[in-house]
Amino acid sequence: MSRDGIRASCLAEESVLIRNLAAVTALDATDRAAISRHAARLVEQVRTSGRAGGMEAFLAEYGLSTKEGVALMCLAEAMLRVPDARTVDELIRDKITPHDWAAHVGDSGSILVNASTWALMLTGRILDDDEEGVAGTLHALVRRLGEPVVRTAVGRAMAEMGAQFVLGETIESAIERGARVSDQGCTHSFDMLGEAARTERDAERYLAAYHAAISAIARAARDDEVRNNPGISVKLSALHPRYERSQAKTMLPEMAERLLPLALAAAKAGIGLNIDAEEADRLDLSLDVTERVLANPSLADWDGFGVVVQAYGRRAMPTIDWLYDLSARLDRRIMVRLVKGAYWDTEIKRAQVLGLKDYPVFTRKAHTDISFLAGARRLLAMKDRIYPQFATHNAHSVAAILHMADGDRSSFEFQRLHGMGDALHEVIRHAEGTRCRIYAPVGTHKDLLAYLVRRLLENGANSSFVHQIVDSSVTAEEIARDPVAAAEADGFAPNPAIPQPSEIFAPRLNSKGWDIADPLDLAMIDAGRKPFQAPFQWDAEPLSPCKHVGQARTVINPADPNDIVGHIVETHPDRVEGCVTAAMDAQPDWESLGAPKRAEILRRVADRYEANAFEAFALLAREAGKTLIDSVAEMREAVDFLRYYADEAERAGDNCVARGVIVCISPW
Ligand code: FAD
Ligand code: 2OP
Repeated sequence: MSRDGIRASCLAEESVLIRNLAAVTALDATDRAAISRHAARLVEQVRTSGRAGGMEAFLAEYGLSTKEGVALMCLAEAMLRVPDARTVDELIRDKITPHDWAAHVGDSGSILVNASTWALMLTGRILDDDEEGVAGTLHALVRRLGEPVVRTAVGRAMAEMGAQFVLGETIESAIERGARVSDQGCTHSFDMLGEAARTERDAERYLAAYHAAISAIARAARDDEVRNNPGISVKLSALHPRYERSQAKTMLPEMAERLLPLALAAAKAGIGLNIDAEEADRLDLSLDVTERVLANPSLADWDGFGVVVQAYGRRAMPTIDWLYDLSARLDRRIMVRLVKGAYWDTEIKRAQVLGLKDYPVFTRKAHTDISFLAGARRLLAMKDRIYPQFATHNAHSVAAILHMADGDRSSFEFQRLHGMGDALHEVIRHAEGTRCRIYAPVGTHKDLLAYLVRRLLENGANSSFVHQIVDSSVTAEEIARDPVAAAEADGFAPNPAIPQPSEIFAPRLNSKGWDIADPLDLAMIDAGRKPFQAPFQWDAEPLSPCKHVGQARTVINPADPNDIVGHIVETHPDRVEGCVTAAMDAQPDWESLGAPKRAEILRRVADRYEANAFEAFALLAREAGKTLIDSVAEMREAVDFLRYYADEAERAGDNCVARGVIVCISPW
């Protein structure tokens, strides 16, 4: 599989892909029925184990479907993004105080939920008997004591959650706490919390933390085989503040320079080092980094380099194929962790904001489940080079993998996140003798939030397994339903509730977008701009009646004095009055066209802009020194305005006639 093959499937049509992936699972109706039956039994066992606690109980209490859940999401996100306490307080005033947190007190037996509720209610509880009720009291209290008190309470709630989802504040304490589980047959992949470095200093700090962690894990690694030892999970976004396509030329060698010593240290210690998968626009870069580092001859005899593939991504299957080809080409054995993907909301939003042609992720949960099974099927056939690691908390996905593994229980492992899915994983470990690894975040509360918000978002959705297992109104059979049958019933069609990015303003068309993180879009833009690069020049002059026969001015690229962009003849001040008069004379004709016709003209202008976008990008860069991202934004703003005002003009009809004069400055 070529890298371009992977890139080409980034926004490929969902139904075509899913039909193919369903075929790749190679599960017939009998297999699928057996898997669902097994999964339903697993669900029952987890339910009766009484251990569906921790994350599951928390989510059941503060699910996204409750208004408190939504407020908590907003708040957590706010606290992540907002550096100053005053703004956080304003957000609390806006988000938290209208909601009824008191309704949750005592609702659940879980200590975690009650502790969080208590923390959130810290101020309200003292005045529990107040006749206004707790919500009213909380309002009054916030008014009297101010948001900082509530902020502290929310901070406490976050700390409580941290204690639940983080194995330890330091790697040493995490290893020590984890050893109790390791002794029972599970090992760990430690994740040093911290990601998306914003500054070089952040990146240095995270890099140092990874090095220190590898040294500590090395001391705890006692087995000759990498897969039996604990390992480490690394987020590339933590290692470099400019982990982005536009900086690839300088960033990639620097990133590889930072990752290689980590990989060498892990190899020397005989432990695994795994590259976590992050946002979809980082995938291509992460494969560049993987190839550069893995090719280093010093890593030849080490089987511990790990890569994560996100099944929700439309590129998942070609990525798996490429990884296999890479390991064969370099004569390596690697580890591949298959996950469903933790950034789904972000990917949907990003594609909409950018106006992409489609989404890089599937839009139905069942489609991601099918892709996961297809990926598992493929990985199980690649065991000569790949050690598959299946990371899921879903009983159906687990049952399907056990079925596909056909009795093999030793050449792959299951993985779960610390604080989640322990009951399910314990059931299968005991019943099936499967191998188990726990992804264990390590760090302090301050670095936890991004991770925590992802957990809350992905699992708070009512389609999520973790959410459903604690909801007694959902039967085990429903939870264990076959995703292929579900997708088939919907004709393998994309989710109708999620409009295509071009349709989000329907009936108005969204402006066409270009993803400047996508190498194929970049290549297309480059090819389109090429005819308009130097020595190409533009000549511009005013139209009649502003036309003026005068000296042309030379326009020079502000970034390159040798690049002559073109020549322009300005109009003469004497002509201005005539121009304005001509425009005013034209106004009655413009008005008499009627609103629909005027709207059509505006829309045609928008279409012409889009049709000539590459020339515009070249001109904007050469004449105004605009970066590509600014050029794309400028083009899209113009197109959006034109289409928006076309709609508005039509809506207002002939009652509202634009008195202004449209001065068309584009050459198209
Ligand atoms: P399920 O409830 O079966 O699946 C939930 C998932 O389905 C969502 O997370 C999403 O991916 C998908 N989904 C939900 N709604 C839709 C929809 N409408 N359309 C399409 N898909 C949908 N994630 C990463 O991104 N990178 C990592 O490196 C990573 N490492 C992990 C390591 C481990 C050990 C584990 C256990 C998880 C890791 N994850 C990672 C997180 C993982 O992606 C989520 O935990 C996982 O998606 C939850 O899947 P599930 O099978 O447990 O739950
Ligand atoms: C995340 O950080 C587990 O890597 C996954 O969300």
